[in-house]
Amino acid sequence: AKAKITSTVIRQEKLAEGVYSMWLAAEEIAAVAKPGQFISVYSRDQSRMLPRPISLCEIDREAGSLRIVYRTVGKGTEEFSKACAGDTLDILGPLGNGFPMEEIRGKRVLMMGGGIGVPPMLQTAKEADADVTIISGYRSADLFLVKELEAAGRLFITTEDGSVGTKGNVMDAIRENRIEPEVILACGPTPMLRAVKAYAEEKKITCYISLEEKMACGIGACLACVCQSKEVDGHSHVHNKRICKDGPVFLSTEVEL
Ligand code: FES
Repeated sequence: AKAKITSTVIRQEKLAEGVYSMWLAAEEIAAVAKPGQFISVYSRDQSRMLPRPISLCEIDREAGSLRIVYRTVGKGTEEFSKACAGDTLDILGPLGNGFPMEEIRGKRVLMMGGGIGVPPMLQTAKEADADVTIISGYRSADLFLVKELEAAGRLFITTEDGSVGTKGNVMDAIRENRIEPEVILACGPTPMLRAVKAYAEEKKITCYISLEEKMACGIGACLACVCQSKEVDGHSHVHNKRICKDGPVFLSTEVEL
């Protein structure tokens, strides 16, 4: 089993309302981490023992550092958002399986991120040896990571209120821009993933989805992340999988949403 390490905060900034970016020094994790994997971050308050899983937004292997971009959703993440350069945080990782970087090589790949599902797409796009189109969906004009994503691929933006880019969600942008991918990678809230899964299956496009939103501890301890999965070997077994241990990335046809 992997061991918790103590990492030092290099810097932290607020990117949008409730959305923070933190660079952490974590050489041993950066050396082996892959796009779509995550780390679990521990609270300093020992009464909140379970850590919070946060996906990797960027991996700088040369500098030995990791970037996480996360939303404050409770006491744990609020505590993390107050950490300053020089503070330390205990983290565990890299965890999870990540996106299939070999399989997308040379293909037309569409990466779709919704809300806090946008950050993992950045390292994935930067590392992909493929023709990369990205659709990132936000609630409003309070955007984040746009410059970085633009540098990593062809970027389309959607906002629910229509203030920037296509009005609506990531699915509206596929249709509006006539994007025809060979593979889709998606991360975001469950209703979005459900729509992406249905679209990909209808169009017979290979699609991988990251169910990271459904995780709570990230380390196999809380069982909040159990989901139903179908075997893809032709038999119709239904069995349970833990997203944090068996995922968070699954072939869309493998899981029920
Ligand atoms: Fe807690 Fe998977 S997230 S067991």
